[in-house]
Amino acid sequence: MATSLDIDFYESQDPIWNPALLTIPVPGIRRMVNLAANLEDVIHLSIGQPDMPVPPEVIDATVEALHAGQTGYTMDAGLPELLEALAEYYAERYSRPLSPENILVTTGATEAIYLALTATSAPGREFIVPDPSFMLYAPLIRMNGGIVKSIPTRAENDHQLDPQEVIDAIDINTYAIVLNSPSNPTGTVYPRETVEAIVEEAAYRNVYVISDEVYDHLVYDGREFPSVLSCCSDLDHVMVVSSFSKTFSMAGMRIGWLMASQGAIRKLRRYHMFTTTVANTPSQWGGVAALRHGARFLDALELEYTKRRDLLVELVERTPHLTGYRPQGAFYMFPALPEGIDGGNVALRLLKEARVCTVPGDTFGDHCRNALRLSYSMSTDQIERAFERIIPWMEKQDFS
Ligand SMILES: Cc1ncc(COP(=O)(O)O)c(C=O)c1O
Repeated sequence: MATSLDIDFYESQDPIWNPALLTIPVPGIRRMVNLAANLEDVIHLSIGQPDMPVPPEVIDATVEALHAGQTGYTMDAGLPELLEALAEYYAERYSRPLSPENILVTTGATEAIYLALTATSAPGREFIVPDPSFMLYAPLIRMNGGIVKSIPTRAENDHQLDPQEVIDAIDINTYAIVLNSPSNPTGTVYPRETVEAIVEEAAYRNVYVISDEVYDHLVYDGREFPSVLSCCSDLDHVMVVSSFSKTFSMAGMRIGWLMASQGAIRKLRRYHMFTTTVANTPSQWGGVAALRHGARFLDALELEYTKRRDLLVELVERTPHLTGYRPQGAFYMFPALPEGIDGGNVALRLLKEARVCTVPGDTFGDHCRNALRLSYSMSTDQIERAFERIIPWMEKQDFS
């Protein structure tokens, strides 16, 4: 059942609440999903979590851990076996030697992002963030008085980031650049040249690159994934975040991690002890199994999502008023409506009149109000049925 409780909380002017909470908007996705819950026969293109079952080895390892009494706290940095497994996995994947001291296990990528941004944001400090971007970054920066400098990207350009524009935006007050590739909400994968140019200039200018790579295995068309870890000469100016949530379908198991220099990890470990103490212990054992046995699962995931992506691209192309493109990763597309059209209004009408739930563009930034986020983390059948409603609805609109 939808309630208005969350909206009351976010918008309350009651003096008990820290005014910093006013930087946290009512998430557009929550607004839409709450509304959808009161309607019948809604098809969702809104959900940002995979529909695949978790690999069975992960379930077995988690349950075995519970039976074996692995229900206490782990070390604050994480379960030593998981830290070792992550270090080995990244050394092999990117030829980047890491030691367990370069890693902190967190409660999902969300906690890692929270730690990275709130430990560095302070009044007057600037953070360069692409617009649109995942909705957590800007509020967490602003909560602590930091300033968000947006770099707009566009559907006509596949939402690619111009590295020179990022470099030109760096000034004396810039503390960090936030990257997210493959991106939520656009599905864009930045090519190696873009990542290298940004990482190199950032290191030279003493600016951090905070890179959210939670979709790092969801990259299609045989494309390589240029992780920040494979583009930096050392870890002195980078913090890289990932998790099992999206790529291993383990969102509810809440295991993520942050990789950085040993000095940064020491600082963040202390902060982590004052936020969540440690991540969930049985799920960390599940994570060890995911890294050891997950290769087959990842191959199947990539194949399935490529199929869904291709279908979505074709359907968006056939839809009047939507400008799409070919996203190369994650499971989202962020097509544009005509300039000046309010995506919030269109999303609302699409929900009420056609019973398809999408997420309005303004959830992800100020420069993309004329967009909708479409997720393809649902079956091809569901995607097809959604467009059987969207296309005739769009045909009837006059956006001129
Ligand atoms: C880009 C991005 N980063 C982080 C997260 C949160 O990940 P987790 O569930 O591991 O906290 C999400 C979830 O939607 C996401 O899209």
